[in-house]
Amino acid sequence: MKRSLGALTPAMPLPVWVIGSYGEDGSPCLMTVAWCGVCCSEPPCVAVAVRKSRLTHANIAVRGCFTVNIPSERYAAEADYCGLVSGRDADKFAAAGLTAVAGEFVDAPYVEDFPLALECVVAQAVDLGSHTLFVGRVADAKADEAVLGENGLPDMAKVKPLACSPADRNYYAVGSLLGGTYSLGRGFAPKK
Ligand SMILES: Cc1cc2nc3c(=O)[nH]c(=O)nc-3n(C[C@H](O)[C@H](O)[C@H](O)COP(=O)(O)O)c2cc1C
Repeated sequence: MKRSLGALTPAMPLPVWVIGSYGEDGSPCLMTVAWCGVCCSEPPCVAVAVRKSRLTHANIAVRGCFTVNIPSERYAAEADYCGLVSGRDADKFAAAGLTAVAGEFVDAPYVEDFPLALECVVAQAVDLGSHTLFVGRVADAKADEAVLGENGLPDMAKVKPLACSPADRNYYAVGSLLGGTYSLGRGFAPKK
């Protein structure tokens, strides 16, 4: 028998992404999100839920694009800082010692220091209440050579992304390999 916790959202783990955008005056801004994920394959899309009060919300609404920057474990403190302070009050790139690079395909900056970046064009903005869900079509994904696996795609063990638990408000490292997707459960499928 489970205990009801009420209408809460303690889904876990959540990714930790840092969203890059430009302000009205062209200054680069970073904001950490955990309410986010991949939401379509064709076209490739991601979704990020941004509270209307954030500077990033205004930036994305005006410019119609953003970047998703995926920090590795060693940038946990920098990522947390980008979620603590508003770009209205600080230059977060400068304060965290991060390097902004102008997007190649979109009018938004990405973080040179993090291993992975996605350049996204807003395809839809869905008003859900406190948050707007920005669905971004991925124009390009960029990765450091050092984090690529044998298949030429980012390798989780090399990227070392952060996971976040909203219920206990902590960051975690990703754990050990359990097995292959579309493979581990084959034993339950009827034999052909
Ligand atoms: C781990 C973490 C996750 C967060 N996730 C979200 C989120 O999904 N959506 C959101 O609107 N704010 C989220 N925040 C809060 C914003 O990152 C924070 O308010 C930030 O200072 C906004 O920056 P801005 O005003 O420069 O856009 C999160 C903060 C942290 C530390």
